[in-house]
Amino acid sequence: MSYDARINEIAAIANEAFYDSANTEDYLGVAPHMKHKVLRDLYSELILEVFNAALMYRTPRVLDIRAGEGAASLPFLELGGKVTAIDISRGMLEALQHKCQARGHELEIVCSDVFEALKTMRKERRQFDIIAASSFLHHIPDYLQLMRDTLPLLSEQSLFFSFQDPLRFDSVGKTTKTFSNLTHYTWRVFQGDVLGGIKRHFRRKHGADENNQEDYTEYHYFRNGVDQDAIRSLFDEFGYDCRIISYFSTQSDFWQSVGSMMKLTNTFAFVARSKTVGATASNRNVASRSKSSPV
Ligand SMILES: C[S@@+](CC[C@H](N)C(=O)[O-])C[C@H]1O[C@@H](n2cnc3c(N)ncnc32)[C@H](O)[C@@H]1O
Repeated sequence: MSYDARINEIAAIANEAFYDSANTEDYLGVAPHMKHKVLRDLYSELILEVFNAALMYRTPRVLDIRAGEGAASLPFLELGGKVTAIDISRGMLEALQHKCQARGHELEIVCSDVFEALKTMRKERRQFDIIAASSFLHHIPDYLQLMRDTLPLLSEQSLFFSFQDPLRFDSVGKTTKTFSNLTHYTWRVFQGDVLGGIKRHFRRKHGADENNQEDYTEYHYFRNGVDQDAIRSLFDEFGYDCRIISYFSTQSDFWQSVGSMMKLTNTFAFVARSKTVGATASNRNVASRSKSSPV
């Protein structure tokens, strides 16, 4: 599916308004990958794996697209990387700057729409060893174009890493789908937002409404989740070894442990490493988790 650039623009404006007004603490309290230990552990493990693979060559230069309040930037800085963080929300970036101040000398902050920032970086011929996208692809209507835009910025020995995106809805089994909906709606009940949830459910049946900010911050509902196989094909084509790591995620603590125990999968992480990574270098250095856990 290809998108009109205008849809990406509307989504960018909606995201900027939403995340600028959002309270960082509120966001951290509901984002499953920040909230649940089992997901934080998986996230930390993958960040460490990606970082160590890039570290074989030099101190990794990391580009965190849609950095938010620093969920990826902070652990990469703590591991010793140099980080460039892009986000459209000034509020989120202020929170990130505050969190990362101890390693501020290795941090570059770019407040911009991600498509614009990548365009400028391509013109400047910037190169990065890791591009990270945490809880990100599902917010962008044309995420495949965005990923294509990142390719020229990846150095010869590089990795792309994404985390916490919903698997393509039609690739999720019926049982998992029913279970995921159930967990989400029971969580909504405890949030006291049943009516809001019902309204959203019916509104979404009619397609995204340009005037509704929420429709454009959560655009994946209108396009079948995020297509993990299309992402894999894209990186395959450009000579990367790809791995999709599927796992279960939901907001509620209780249902998260049940879903994880049952080994259900509705969400994925993605790691692509250029085929040259690990082929020539010896293990120059290996970072280990810093005193404060990566996330
Ligand atoms: C769900 S948060 C993810 C934050 C962080 N990466 C994490 O894992 O928690 C999405 C972030 O994307 C940013 N964002 C949304 N659309 C954007 C765009 N078009 N350009 C740059 N940043 C954008 C928002 O401001 C927000 O901080």
